[in-house]
Amino acid sequence: MDKIIIQGQAKLSGEVEISGAKNAVLPIMTATLLVNGVSKISQVPDLKDTRTMIKLLEIIGAKCDFINGNLKIDATSVDNPEAPYDLVKTMRASFYVLGPLLARFGYVKVSLPGGCAWGPRPVDYHLNALKKLGAKITLKSGYILAEAKRLKGANISFDFPSVGATGNIVMAAATALGITKISNAAKEPEIVQLCDYLNLMGANIKGIGTSKLVIEGVDLLKSADIKVIPDRIEAGTFLVAGALLGEITLKNVIPKHLDSMLSKLSDCGCDIASTETSITISPAKLLNPVDMTTDVYPGFATDLQAQWVALMTLAEGSSIITDNVYHDRFSHVPELNRFGANIKMKKNVALIRGVKELIGAPVMSTDIRASASLIVAGLAAKGETSVSRIYHIDRGYEKIEAKFRSLGANIMRKNT
Ligand code: UD1
Repeated sequence: MDKIIIQGQAKLSGEVEISGAKNAVLPIMTATLLVNGVSKISQVPDLKDTRTMIKLLEIIGAKCDFINGNLKIDATSVDNPEAPYDLVKTMRASFYVLGPLLARFGYVKVSLPGGCAWGPRPVDYHLNALKKLGAKITLKSGYILAEAKRLKGANISFDFPSVGATGNIVMAAATALGITKISNAAKEPEIVQLCDYLNLMGANIKGIGTSKLVIEGVDLLKSADIKVIPDRIEAGTFLVAGALLGEITLKNVIPKHLDSMLSKLSDCGCDIASTETSITISPAKLLNPVDMTTDVYPGFATDLQAQWVALMTLAEGSSIITDNVYHDRFSHVPELNRFGANIKMKKNVALIRGVKELIGAPVMSTDIRASASLIVAGLAAKGETSVSRIYHIDRGYEKIEAKFRSLGANIMRKNT
């Protein structure tokens, strides 16, 4: 099994190119299933999750061609609207096929995702909303069967602005009969891009980027091409590394998508300079401790919580980090404490006392973002760190060691 080996405390400098966003490309890929035709997606990150989604689309019957960040999907021959357990259990985003396949075929069978490393992660919002659109939902042998001759527009209100449920329902409602109104919809940039893409395909979605979406169903969609937005979570991970280890410039970013993180980094004392498509960060002379509570967009992303915890372990004082989106998402904490960090947990709150230095250690990844936080901590720690179970990082970060190496880090992958 591969490990990442880091000799820590190398200074970072230079430029790094940010890849396309994982959480944007995955629903876009499933949206292509809505049409009988060929769709082209560019700036597609070469990730394990992208490859898993390609595999799923191929099982469903689509033809996929992925070369150099360009993905062509021909959904003409799609004939098997089923997502098997083996794939859904490795990537929850597989659940995004539910809405589009139901809309196109009037029938879909998708494995129920189950829990994950951060707790239960239910899908009740997806299912209740589909029922409101007129779908008959049954659960059989761990699979959800959804049926509807043609979905009908309805008023849907989510208790929480779920990213996945909003994505699934806009895809389902795009060709429903009549008008669907979603209140408390997610406003994340990845959902904005999905809605923009559906409109390019001929859908009629209004209120994009607000919490009230209005979707007027159309009879037919046509294929369309799109370039995936840059990955704000990958960018945020590099910003944390820059804040600890030297002035770096991120290219191919949309700074607005990172507003809440950039303002927290300024509060830490880091120097930030942005253009329309780049961000340069210089470390603070003294890293101030800064409390942070995750929230839905435009708040601080839960996907950057683990990396922020890593940063705060080296701050000059104490900080409090609360995750309000996923209460159990702290599996990185005991691993960070193995570096000598001083973090105590109280439910969904991490109480961090900054230490002078982290010391390299063997640690283990537990999920994508926890892995990123361990890599950043390892880069800042004195001596050698080895990170095992790095298949998690490969799900969501493209060429992470090569990118850090190009900035001057001493990091390599070792097959053990
Ligand atoms: C997406 C992201 C993930 C990110 C998360 C929150 C993708 C592929 N993944 O996950 O990286 O961390 O958004 O920004 O884009 N909930 C329910 N019932 C539901 C659905 C959600 O109770 O049916 C709850 C969840 O338990 C959680 C909250 O709503 O507490 C937000 O979850 P959601 O926005 O749905 O996350 P995902 O779409 O799974």
